[in-house]
Amino acid sequence: MKRIIFLLGICALLQCIPAFSQVRNIHLSWDSSKEDATGKTMAITWAKDDVSKGAVQYATDSSLSNSHRTQATRAYSDAMQAYIYKATLKHLQPNTTYFYRCGSEEDGWSKIYSFQTAPPLGSQEKFVVGVWGDTQDNEFNTQFEKTEAIVHQMLEYPIQFTIHMGDIVNNGSMATSWRNFFRVAQPLNAIASFMPVTGNHDVVNDTADSGFQKPFPVFHELFNLPEKDTDYSFTYGNTHFVALSSGHAKGVEEAGATNWRYGKSSPEYKWLEADLAKARQNKAITWVIVYMHHPLYSFGWSHVQGWQERIAPLLDRYKVDLALAGHRHVYERHKAIRDNRIIALQDDHVYRSPAGTVYVTNGTAGGSPQGLGGSDMPSMVYTSPKKMYNYAVMIVDGNTITYDVYNLGGERIDYFKIVK
Ligand SMILES: [Fe+2]
Repeated sequence: MKRIIFLLGICALLQCIPAFSQVRNIHLSWDSSKEDATGKTMAITWAKDDVSKGAVQYATDSSLSNSHRTQATRAYSDAMQAYIYKATLKHLQPNTTYFYRCGSEEDGWSKIYSFQTAPPLGSQEKFVVGVWGDTQDNEFNTQFEKTEAIVHQMLEYPIQFTIHMGDIVNNGSMATSWRNFFRVAQPLNAIASFMPVTGNHDVVNDTADSGFQKPFPVFHELFNLPEKDTDYSFTYGNTHFVALSSGHAKGVEEAGATNWRYGKSSPEYKWLEADLAKARQNKAITWVIVYMHHPLYSFGWSHVQGWQERIAPLLDRYKVDLALAGHRHVYERHKAIRDNRIIALQDDHVYRSPAGTVYVTNGTAGGSPQGLGGSDMPSMVYTSPKKMYNYAVMIVDGNTITYDVYNLGGERIDYFKIVK
């Protein structure tokens, strides 16, 4: 009898507690291209089903005893059917670990997460970047099962931020896909800035639509990235990262080569040229890394010649060190290339001060693997010997970049170094 009375008491108590929704889909990013943004700021975004006084409480101690607080902005997203909260922490100390939680006293807090701010601009200190792409929820990844496994593998490395090659979801108009992606990726995205480009699955594909090649509105509602969310750059330590959204390049080519993103007189093209020129004039920057969805050099049907013709000359002119891409669901690595000239490699795994850009296609971190890459391309160094999922862990350590590529089983399938 006592047990029944106790249970009835618990039930009565629960009915008295308001049913506030959970803080979910937490992800970090930088929302500014300023050179010191990675060391001094952090943008935090999350979703919640109801209205609350959303804020971020943060401190350098894990108990948050000496905490600061930044109020979030809030906007309802029709596409997500949820409120999206965004807050940017400012005046942070570089190279410092911060602990934070988001929510409010009234409606409940998230668990406490932590992140580390970047070292000062020009620092030669080592840092680790996660590289992934094509996490799209299709065939064997309908609930992002494969992506979730990769997230947990990446958590085993001290990754400070990730760059994503696009095709984050299979259909960018589906709110459930975005929700599910951010659900499985939250353990990583809540401790390491998530800096993606859009892929053709994340943007409007209908050539008759006025939004052709633009991300679905939900993308802007959910993300908090520099510039207009799609084409941006940021500097971390001694490395400048440039993110290009290639739109629906294949669709443009098939439609008769009109509406190119990065057409030669376009604002995007001028921005990219100015950004690369500025980075190359900055003595604090050792490396320039460009990433995008469509690869510039790749084997097979996924290659878009017109995209290469527009972008590669700029990468050549400004001596970009490394160009990363996705789209094709295999892993491919090429010799360094400049002005269409392939630079011979003495050691298949080491590029020593290469007189060209190293090109890598980062296959798939969830979308169904495609057929084998071809090896009958003169620039090809490595292509997946069988269908596989993959992700990479890139370590930038002063004058050396080390790039380790893993499959879904966590086995290293390829590696290379670029040494200056
Ligand atoms: Fe794609």
